[in-house]
Amino acid sequence: MTRRARASASATVANLGPGYDVLGLCVEGPRDVVTAELTRDGAVTIVEVRGDDGRLPTAASDNCAGVAAQWVLENYGHGAGVRLWLDKGLPLGSGMGSSAASSVAAALATAALVCPSDFDKRALLDACREGERLATGTPHPDNVAPCLYGGVVACAPRANGHVEVISLPVAGELWVVAVKPNFAVRTADARAALPDAVPMADAVSNLAAIAGLVTALASGDHGLLGRSLGDRLATPYRRRLIAGYDAVEAAALAAGAIGCGISGSGPTMFALSPTQAEANTIAAEMVGAFVASGHQAVSHVSAIDPVGARLEAM
Ligand code: HSE
Repeated sequence: MTRRARASASATVANLGPGYDVLGLCVEGPRDVVTAELTRDGAVTIVEVRGDDGRLPTAASDNCAGVAAQWVLENYGHGAGVRLWLDKGLPLGSGMGSSAASSVAAALATAALVCPSDFDKRALLDACREGERLATGTPHPDNVAPCLYGGVVACAPRANGHVEVISLPVAGELWVVAVKPNFAVRTADARAALPDAVPMADAVSNLAAIAGLVTALASGDHGLLGRSLGDRLATPYRRRLIAGYDAVEAAALAAGAIGCGISGSGPTMFALSPTQAEANTIAAEMVGAFVASGHQAVSHVSAIDPVGARLEAM
């Protein structure tokens, strides 16, 4: 009998202002879906990728979903293999964790076939980070961790090479606006734009912002949250990659956003809002600012997804 499993994973907003490579949150909405079929050949075969306009490689070793599935097989597979079908629900190169969602869904679907039933999806973080390494050049965890776990997380690299994921409490209602302009920024390029060293004053500023941000999320203090979203480690070097950055940020704040910033490595920009109605207004103003800067844009307003990646079917 053919055994199959299907898993899905959604978009994420990484960095969240000052938390470069550390903070991320999972949003509700479109998802990447991976269907895995168990084989006995010990290999990963990508049968089909849909929804990518033919842009993604289908050789398993060149595709982040394939690499994540391969990691699961090597660590838990006992000789098993998988055939994969990847349905892309997330746009590529958007800064919304598209590669992370593919890696996470592939790792989870593969694990569902080869691991014990009480398997904890959190054991898959390293598999998903290998997918990120392929897609972006580094195994940064701040998309795959919130994508797997859901909610808002902090990723703490430990001396043993692993990453401890800390789920952060969020008090009250918080809506996430994501506005994607019609151009792409490759994460590898956005990372290459960063300096190897930063001024101590900038590091101190971000440390203080993170303390404020974590406290503000837990207490629901939106004033403090807004004052804690500033970033001096990555944003100053990346804003020039996003045509209209200043206008979009100003539009979001003028429309009442708690704060605004680059989602991951961009070019999507995010804003936070206390209500869905205000979030919709902020989204419209941010889209308008991108359009006035010469770029069409689409917006997505959503709540934080507290669950993260899901096994849809076995
Ligand atoms: N922390 C990563 C970066 C996220 O900013 O490069 C990429 O989505």
